[in-house]
Amino acid sequence: MSKPIIVANWKCNPATQKEAELLFNSVKKGALKIKKAEAVICPPFIYLGTIYKRQATGIKLGAQNCFWENPPTGGGAFTGEISPRMLRDLGCSYVILGHSERRRYQRESDRDINKKLIAALKGGLKVILCVGENESENKKGKTFEVIKNQLKKDLKLISNFNGSVAYEPVWAIGTGKSCRVQDAKKVNTFIKKILGKKTPVLYGGSVNSQNAGDYIKNAGFNGLLVGGASLKPKEFLEIIKKAA
Ligand code: PGA
Repeated sequence: MSKPIIVANWKCNPATQKEAELLFNSVKKGALKIKKAEAVICPPFIYLGTIYKRQATGIKLGAQNCFWENPPTGGGAFTGEISPRMLRDLGCSYVILGHSERRRYQRESDRDINKKLIAALKGGLKVILCVGENESENKKGKTFEVIKNQLKKDLKLISNFNGSVAYEPVWAIGTGKSCRVQDAKKVNTFIKKILGKKTPVLYGGSVNSQNAGDYIKNAGFNGLLVGGASLKPKEFLEIIKKAA
């Protein structure tokens, strides 16, 4: 069995470069000692350069988004965008795509996400594709339908998808209401049925050191996508330990 992947999604945090360096350094020391899990840190774009300089082998870097064009030159006339090539140059091996916050606030459609996936995969990034139902879809029992639909549209024209999928129920993100392990397990099985047993499936949504081990051990997830708790070094390290 391969190591669980524990991904820190810092979102739009912290507020200063100094704080980002401090946060990274305090996670780095502890994470390097835990050999049985792979830690991936996804800071805001703007901190990637400084963190890359402080990176150590054993900790992977990722981005929270990328643009859907990856021109051979690595750039082009796309104001405000960051290409997969630029991310690779700053040491990123992973990219999170389709996060529900981007689907919501940036109005990213499945079509946009599909284009980004194609560019990221071509650009040599490992993709973590986020899918998940919102609260009303959950209440209506539409979880599986929503996920199947998202996977179909997001992965259109992509054969042999070799990235990971993160199941993130939207109602569980940042709310402290994590998904019941037995329910999450069913979704894990469902995604693997569609994409193949070898596709790593991560769980995300109010992960903490209390529930982290359960998702790996009892629900069979291959990793975790951690938001709020990844900003607290002690708690995040505890999560990595529990997963390992
Ligand atoms: P959370 O966020 O851990 O704060 O719920 C998870 C995510 O949005 O990836």
